[in-house]
Amino acid sequence: MMTTLERADAFCSRFGLTMPILQASMAGACPPGLAAAVANAGGMGGMGALLTPPAGIAEWATEFRAQSNGAFQVNLWIPDPAPVRDPALEARQRTFLETWGPTVPAVAGDATPPDFTAQCPALLEVWPRVVSSIMGLYPPAFVASLKDRGIAWFSCGTTLSEALAAEAAGADAVVAQGAEAG
Ligand SMILES: Cc1cc2nc3c(=O)[nH]c(=O)nc-3n(C[C@H](O)[C@H](O)[C@H](O)COP(=O)(O)O)c2cc1C
Repeated sequence: MMTTLERADAFCSRFGLTMPILQASMAGACPPGLAAAVANAGGMGGMGALLTPPAGIAEWATEFRAQSNGAFQVNLWIPDPAPVRDPALEARQRTFLETWGPTVPAVAGDATPPDFTAQCPALLEVWPRVVSSIMGLYPPAFVASLKDRGIAWFSCGTTLSEALAAEAAGADAVVAQGAEAG
């Protein structure tokens, strides 16, 4: 059996790191300079792409690569089905929120994240060392496309059953964290 140090060494050499440290993905809080600093120190930089449309993902990677030759990962949230809207409930929620701050416009509930199906090909285009996921599993066809390109898939698991499902779906690593994270 490998010791902890041997496992850390094997992980580092597989991913071109000198330190077994991954920058956590943080959508909206992951400037390329921060990721490049992590990578230049020997860890793996990270980009939380949840809020970033395809062109922005490409731009982020270009900016990262201008500052570092190191490894980075790009993270996406696996989308839920479209929400079932209930205008009466939303109106009650707006009224409640307004007791804590400014008026909430009715259109606030119309916000949608960028199109996941367009973000996935953008990830392949950018070709990071690792692609990661949270809140679910990537569709099998996308997992196959990652593997074709030698891009590793790290899947976040916040329960044992999520971790086992990720392993069965072909994840190269499971990032274990508590349900309170992410
Ligand atoms: C501002 C912010 C944004 C985050 N965005 C993401 C995200 O997009 N994807 C994700 O998997 N985790 C996201 N996380 C969770 C972090 O990746 C990490 O799991 C969490 O902060 C727990 O790690 P820690 O205990 O080292 O802080 C975010 C965390 C913060 C603080």
